Amino acid sequence: MEKYSEPKAKPFLKWAGGKSQLLSEIEKRFPYGKNDCFSYVEPFVGSGAVLFWILNNYPNVQKVIINDVNVDLIGVYKAILHNVEDLILILEKWQAEFYELEKDEPEKKIYYYKKRELFNSRKVNETESAALVIFLNRTCFNGLYRVNQSNQFNVPMGSYKKPLICDQKNLRIVSEKLKKVHHLNTDFEEMLKYVKDEAFFYFDPPYKPLSKTSSFNSYSKAEFNDNEQIRLKNFCDVVHKNNHKWLLSNSDPKGADEHNDFFDNLYKDYTIDRVMASRSINSKAERRGKLNELLIRNY
Ligand SMILES: C[S@@+](CC[C@H](N)C(=O)[O-])C[C@H]1O[C@@H](n2cnc3c(N)ncnc32)[C@H](O)[C@@H]1O
Repeated sequence: MEKYSEPKAKPFLKWAGGKSQLLSEIEKRFPYGKNDCFSYVEPFVGSGAVLFWILNNYPNVQKVIINDVNVDLIGVYKAILHNVEDLILILEKWQAEFYELEKDEPEKKIYYYKKRELFNSRKVNETESAALVIFLNRTCFNGLYRVNQSNQFNVPMGSYKKPLICDQKNLRIVSEKLKKVHHLNTDFEEMLKYVKDEAFFYFDPPYKPLSKTSSFNSYSKAEFNDNEQIRLKNFCDVVHKNNHKWLLSNSDPKGADEHNDFFDNLYKDYTIDRVMASRSINSKAERRGKLNELLIRNY
């Protein structure tokens, strides 16, 4: 008899630094078996590639806590959890309207920029705001999320002909899976107070840019500079002292400069592996393709 398998949830947004490519390397280093009970904490969740991998493959995961400083992003998680049917209705409507304009490029552009303006007005309710994030993510150039210093989404329209704007099936599965998940919208350092039992932390902070021109870590208006990377390492020390396990990924600056030992020095007390990863969103300077990724862990 064929075994019933639960439907799998996928990330509902394309996000710079999405970790789908790295899952097999993370799996090799994952400290738990498929039937183990453990708590999972992801302080920089982004589009949640690792979160959904955990929810799909580890049915006994106990407590799950996700966080991201980006209020619009966490708003989408909340809307999918609480209002998935309303969200689907809005997205279906916008998808039909967008497809209608398929052959009329100027009108399509007007439609896109109106939606962008509406989003940037920040005057809509949570469900509509979430729908706007998904719509813009599916239709904008390269499908990325980027805001300027005034928190205005500033990506131009992309050239996709008929992008899937409303993936109803996946949104419903995600909504179901999120029932297990506590979400926070704060700085990563605030998370420890929410974690009582021994837990596994996966950290995927904004990358350290590999070159001066490549700055893809504008997911939010605050910059994640070297001082932030150091603040995160200090937090990892605290998490370690609290007897939790953690795994952290970052770009390897040695890819651009073989003498750059920033992370080797910073994390010298922990295990550092270099693995190959193809990035989904790269600047021209880095080129699309294979680059080293760092996987650092305390166990
Ligand atoms: C590399 S992305 C995470 C990618 C994610 N793992 C994925 O699969 O898509 C980094 C995330 O960190 C968030 N972030 C930046 N600074 C933060 C902070 N101080 N505290 C919490 N989250 C932060 C950004 O909003 C962004 O979503």
